[in-house]
This record gives sequence, C-alpha cells and structure tokens, in this order.
Amino acid sequence: MRILITGSNGLLGQKIVKYCLINKISFLATSFGENRNREVPSNYYASMDITDSFAIEEVVRRYEPTHIINTAAITNVDACEEDQELCQRVNVFAVQCLLDICKEYGIHFQQLSTDFVFDGVQGDYSEEDPVNPLSVYAQSKVASEAILMNSGYENWSIVRTIIVFGTGYSLSRSNIVLWAIDALRKGDSLIIVNDQFRAPTWADDLAKGCMLILEKDKTGIFHISGPESFSIAEIVRKIAQYVNAPIDLIRETSSAELNQKAPRPPRTGFDLSKAKEELGYAPLAFEEALKVLDEELKSNVYSNPQ
Ligand SMILES: NC(=O)c1ccc[n+]([C@@H]2O[C@H](COP(=O)([O-])OP(=O)(O)OC[C@H]3O[C@@H](n4cnc5c(N)ncnc54)[C@H](OP(=O)(O)O)[C@@H]3O)[C@@H](O)[C@H]2O)c1
Repeated sequence: MRILITGSNGLLGQKIVKYCLINKISFLATSFGENRNREVPSNYYASMDITDSFAIEEVVRRYEPTHIINTAAITNVDACEEDQELCQRVNVFAVQCLLDICKEYGIHFQQLSTDFVFDGVQGDYSEEDPVNPLSVYAQSKVASEAILMNSGYENWSIVRTIIVFGTGYSLSRSNIVLWAIDALRKGDSLIIVNDQFRAPTWADDLAKGCMLILEKDKTGIFHISGPESFSIAEIVRKIAQYVNAPIDLIRETSSAELNQKAPRPPRTGFDLSKAKEELGYAPLAFEEALKVLDEELKSNVYSNPQ
C-alpha cells in the first residue's frame, strides 16, 4: 500500500500519519500550508491544494499512490455558512478533482464525511438511513458523497464520523476535549449546549478505522465514531470530573438560546455494527480515551490550540 494523505496538518491527517509510521506503511503527507506535523520527515511531505487538479496530478504521478485518503476540508460548520463559495470549492469541487484522478489511475479513494448528513431526529444512524442535511457544511458533505456514489467507479469508501477529539502538533482548530480541559484547568466558566447529543470520537480510533477499510480491501460507506452518545453538556461534565474542576463552572444552555449560525442536528450517534463486524473496529470508551489524551498532554509534546 502507498497512501496519499490530504489534510495531513489536520487532526485526523496527523493520526493517519502516526498509524502509517507505527505500522511501517508507505505514505505521502500533503496539506495546504507548510508541514506542521513534526513526525513527518520533510521528504514525506508535499504542499498540495486539493482544489488544484494540476497539482494533484503532479503529486500522484510522482508518488504513485494505491490509495488516497481525503481528510482535507473546510471543517468549521459556521464558517461554511459565511463563505459558501469556499466551502463548495474545497468540500465538493476538490472531491471531484481527486476522484477523477483516482479513476484515471485506478486508485482507491477514501472520502471523510460527517454525522451532519443526517437531520438528527432519529439518532443512532446506520449506513442505510436516508440523509437530510440542515446546514451548508452538511449539504457540501452530502454533495461530496454523491460524487463518489454516482461516479460509476466502485473503488471508493466513505467514512462518516462524529465530533473528533485528540492531540496534535500546531492544529489549526481546537476540539471539544482540548478546549474544555484547557478552560476548566484555568478556572474559566463555560456555556454548553445540553440538547445536542453526539458520540465523541477518539481521533486515533478514527484513523485506525479508516486504515482498516483500506487494509481489508473494503468499499462503500462506514460509520466510525466513539461507542457512547452523550449530550455536549454531559461530555463537558465528564471532562470537568476528570480534571477535578468545579461543576458550577459549566452553565447549560439550549440550542435555541445558543443560536449558532449553522443549524445543528439535535441527536446523531451511529449504529457501529457494520464497522465492528466487517473491520473488527473496537473504539475506546470516552473516559479511557480521555486518560490517554491527558497523558499525551502531560508529555508536553503537543501544543494546545486556542
Ligand atoms: N473534526 C470533527 O469533529 C469532524 C466531525 C465529522 C467529520 N469530520 C470530517 O473529518 C475530516 C477531517 O477532519 P479534521 O478535524 O481532521 O480537520 P481539520 O483538523 O480541520 O483539518 C483539515 C485540514 O484540511 C486542510 N485543507 C483545507 N483546505 C485545503 C485545501 N484547499 N487543500 C489542501 N488541504 C486543505 C487544512 O490544511 P492546512 O492546515 O495545511 O491549511 C487542515 O489542516 C474532514 O473531512 C471533516 O469534515 C470532522
């Protein structure tokens, strides 16, 4: 296997790099900016804008990958409402560019997607449930999935996931666990929504799930998330307990009161049966992942983005 990773500066991209290094799998890390992952040797990295099909073709010809994992995206859900053109270009148009090249060279294409493809009424979604996106970001991900599904090409996989957390080098965005640990340890008070339910996903487990699909030669849609669903307020309460922070630092609020720019699905969460049966996917419980993450933070290797 020769894996071309896009978005290697991002949280998931960094964990796929880590998996490849540990398992001695050949990879080329690519991202939009300069390399910010200290584990990637410079000759394993290329800057590549996924909206530039000439740049993609040049990198593909040089590296000759057998698989491309596209983790790169505009991932800030509210920012997608504000800059819909950028969201469309990176989250949809670029997927078409990548898929076209995969088709031409017979490369397996893996696309990352989201629980936000669902409207969050039912919860506990399986791969067969119908999508109903509520926001610009969610619509862009549904459109990217449709590009693969309607392509007439069969060598692809789609991995849908749910709020991803973990450590990394110079991440451009924080994630709920890093953000809450940092704020609670400083004694800051937090306003947290209590009517949105999610299955928080340990980034290392997600990377393993993505790679198991490739290693086991699977195609199609896979739901990969943490094993338990909680309200966002419950997630932050668990973090407060873990860091021994006073629970009254957390003020709960509703989605209506919070009034986020992009509408959020109230209740997602995945049925993980397919991933467990076909991949042997076995994610850590939230509190176990929290312990590992905290040990990583204490090692002072990773910076905590604000
Ligand atoms: N994080 C979550 O909670 C979550 C939940 C559901 C689904 N997902 C999906 O999972 C995937 C990975 O998420 P993540 O949290 O790892 O993302 P992330 O940390 O926000 O990283 C995304 C990366 O995309 C890169 N990128 C943006 N525009 C690019 C372009 N034009 N060309 C090349 N690279 C570009 C950025 O690279 P530079 O840093 O080099 O600019 C950035 O590092 C995404 O597809 C996301 O939609 C994430």
